[in-house]
Amino acid sequence: MELINWDERLLPYRQAVDELTVKINNMKNEYSTLKLVPPMEEIHGRVKSVSSILDKAARRNIAAEDVFDKLEDIAGIRIICRFVEDIERVANIIRQRNGFDMQVIQEEDYVKNPKPGGYRSYHMTIIYNMITIDGPKNIPCEIQIRTLAMNFWASIEHSLRYKYSGNLPDELQDRLKNCADAAFLLDTEMATIRDDIVEAKMISETKNNLVDNIVKNLHNLYYIAKVEKMSAFNRKFIEIYQNGNLEELRDFSQKLQTMARLYKVEYV
Ligand code: GTP
Ligand code: MG
Repeated sequence: MELINWDERLLPYRQAVDELTVKINNMKNEYSTLKLVPPMEEIHGRVKSVSSILDKAARRNIAAEDVFDKLEDIAGIRIICRFVEDIERVANIIRQRNGFDMQVIQEEDYVKNPKPGGYRSYHMTIIYNMITIDGPKNIPCEIQIRTLAMNFWASIEHSLRYKYSGNLPDELQDRLKNCADAAFLLDTEMATIRDDIVEAKMISETKNNLVDNIVKNLHNLYYIAKVEKMSAFNRKFIEIYQNGNLEELRDFSQKLQTMARLYKVEYV
């Protein structure tokens, strides 16, 4: 039997994970740039370790040299969302790439149909099309989409399963099932206050942006345009900031922006 050159065989999988992570992160950034709340919160990618590949091959009775043809999750992407309904939105933006740089070959909805143990997640198996220095390569990849709560549960359950080598005691399984139900209840409750949460996030981002603008304009007017009275403006800024009125902060920011434009030191 020829020795498997793991580094070389896994290289395109690493490349696929890197490219997909960048692409999904860029989609997230598009939302933020357009001042929209992205449906995805975190994006993680990994290539399965050789030991996990060998473990899975043994479980499935697959010969080590066949793993590249038979395992579809050597490359894996995990997208974490804040709300359950965001899972479908993320799945849609992945589906929209179908036929462009990937083919979606399978979808498994463990959100609507959780596994008996309590596992919830949405799985998409894709074939990612990429170009390497040896030409085009089609790499299978498993995309898991789940909420923060589902991810919390799955990571705890995964480490326990590991500890007990897959044979969890009944009592622990029952407790985990209760935890899964509680996690889902959390998701359901969060959904009812989604609008408030989204608005809160927008407010804090708006405030951050306004303060960034004000501070940069104050700096440019004072240090570049040498406008002496800026120290009075600075005091005014602190006063408005401490009052906590967002509208006042917005007005102040606009006033400063106009002034900076006049002095040609506008921060954009
Ligand atoms: P396996 O990967 O061997 O489970 O078979 P499969 O390809 O049919 O996988 P499935 O779609 O059931 O799950 C694929 C992946 O989802 C797994 O590799 C895990 O990352 C995750 N997963 C599935 N079921 C569970 C579970 O009960 N608990 C946890 N923590 N993760 C799970
Ligand atoms: Mg599967």
